[in-house]
Amino acid sequence: MAAPRATDGVDESCGDTGLILSNSSTGDPKRPQFGTRFLTDPRQVFQHNAWDNVEWTDEQEEAAKKKVSENNQPLPPEKQEDYDSRASEYWNDFYTIHENRFFKDRHWLFTEFPELAPRCNINHESGPSVAGANGSPDQKQSAALSPDSPDFPGSSATYRVLEVGCGVGNTVFPILKTNNDPGLFVYCCDFSSAAVELVKTNPEYDSKRCFAFVHDSSDEEASYPIPDGTLDVIVLIFVLSALHPDKMRSSISRAARLLKPGGVMLLRDYGRYDMAQLRFKKGRCLSENFYVRGDGTRVYFFTQDELHELFTEAGLEKVQNLVDRRLQVNRGKQLTMYRVWIQCKYRKAP
Ligand SMILES: C[S@@+](CC[C@H](N)C(=O)[O-])C[C@H]1O[C@@H](n2cnc3c(N)ncnc32)[C@H](O)[C@@H]1O
Repeated sequence: MAAPRATDGVDESCGDTGLILSNSSTGDPKRPQFGTRFLTDPRQVFQHNAWDNVEWTDEQEEAAKKKVSENNQPLPPEKQEDYDSRASEYWNDFYTIHENRFFKDRHWLFTEFPELAPRCNINHESGPSVAGANGSPDQKQSAALSPDSPDFPGSSATYRVLEVGCGVGNTVFPILKTNNDPGLFVYCCDFSSAAVELVKTNPEYDSKRCFAFVHDSSDEEASYPIPDGTLDVIVLIFVLSALHPDKMRSSISRAARLLKPGGVMLLRDYGRYDMAQLRFKKGRCLSENFYVRGDGTRVYFFTQDELHELFTEAGLEKVQNLVDRRLQVNRGKQLTMYRVWIQCKYRKAP
């Protein structure tokens, strides 16, 4: 995902390079989920920058599997330990170098995740409905009147959203801009203090509507500054993949406790055999499907089943678990790049 290694003219970032039919960060109501540009005639491949819902052939899947298994020689344990214990330092270095220049705004955000701005005038017909994610007006009212503690930031809000691993705020600021519900309060955290500082010093940061804090979501002992059972939505965008696989389960379970009954966890992250996985060179593999980039940041490539297990073990119910396969095209260099992203919504029982 890191910018400097963006290869062959395409960055590996967080799904932003997919087909964008909208030029507004508020989302285009006409953009259906995962797009509509299908490649039916392979000769047309270089006519557009990207194609949606691309089917993989059996041969392609086999070739990807082979490539991954050839590169599956984990680094020695002491190296692995070093990358794990210094994970936040590597991300701090990343943000010190790139500041907020790397990640782009997400045009797909409100199309794929209408829960982030449920009361706003965005047409969500193309998105799946998430029953209970917003709660009934009565539920909202009672939640607002009886928070566990009256003293936490955003305690008087009626709709609370937390982004874990927020980076420099490429999700948070579009939410604040688009969702004009006066009852909205947005929390965001990252274990990189450099990232959180960039969020807090952004001119769009409004402490009356937002609270940014440093938090390591893989640290079971670390507490959130929000009582359990108070959040409507938790967003995880390309962050779970940055955690050590052994720490994912406890991280999701801890975060799930923050959700209200009916609250929803939203995730978009790397899928197995994404181009970024296939491009890792030998010597970068930490464990199966888990790699370290040249800048020390790490990335895991998920299957849908793995994510399903993580969420259901945290007591959440599936609303959506989809794979988004795209073919991106570098027309200048006549290159094709197969992207695989997974998108999930899991809900706490109402
Ligand atoms: C790929 S970036 C995505 C940033 C942001 N979600 C976005 O989409 O722009 C991954 C982010 O997760 C953060 N991160 C990684 N491990 C974390 C952890 N254990 N706790 C909190 N944040 C973490 C990194 O600092 C980084 O900002």
